[in-house]
Amino acid sequence: MLSLGEGWTPLHHALRLGRRIGCQNTYLKDESLNPTGSFKARGLCIAVSRACELGATAVAIPSAGNAAGAMAAYAAVAALPAHIFMPIDVPQPFVAECRVLGAKVTLVDGLITDCAAKVREGAVEGWFDMSTLREPYRVEGKKTMGYELVEQLDWRLPDVIIYPTGGGTGLIGMWKGLR
Ligand SMILES: Cc1ncc(COP(=O)(O)O)c(C=O)c1O
Repeated sequence: MLSLGEGWTPLHHALRLGRRIGCQNTYLKDESLNPTGSFKARGLCIAVSRACELGATAVAIPSAGNAAGAMAAYAAVAALPAHIFMPIDVPQPFVAECRVLGAKVTLVDGLITDCAAKVREGAVEGWFDMSTLREPYRVEGKKTMGYELVEQLDWRLPDVIIYPTGGGTGLIGMWKGLR
């Protein structure tokens, strides 16, 4: 399995924030400490690893930033060609990060859905399609957020997890892990 040291991020007891919102037991899990700066590393680590095991010769993803950077990093470790499609207005650092990691970045004059359509066209040529929920392995990688939360809370479940959702892989992964 590929690895860049993803996961096992710190859980901070946010005392002052907790006091302000009336919940003493408020904790923040700092996912920015993952190798590519976001929790996307957890899912793409597993997905690129599995793509390699299955014999993929190239990987591709539509992304507005974080997922692309993560896929590019693991594809670089695996020496797999990476094709990334991003909306033309994504912040430049995301584009630069992917290119520095050796990925081929195409900027699309459109939305993320237009980028996804380009990946699907390429998938016909044999690219492994890493789009959100189009393959099952990214979700598996996200389970570790749930496992870690419980372990860091001395094997107790939190009452509530507040989590930012886009495509939903993190939410589904944590739910699967906690179940
Ligand atoms: C920092 C960050 N948090 C949360 C999300 C939501 O992702 P998902 O719903 O796929 O877990 C994204 C994805 O765009 C992200 O980049």
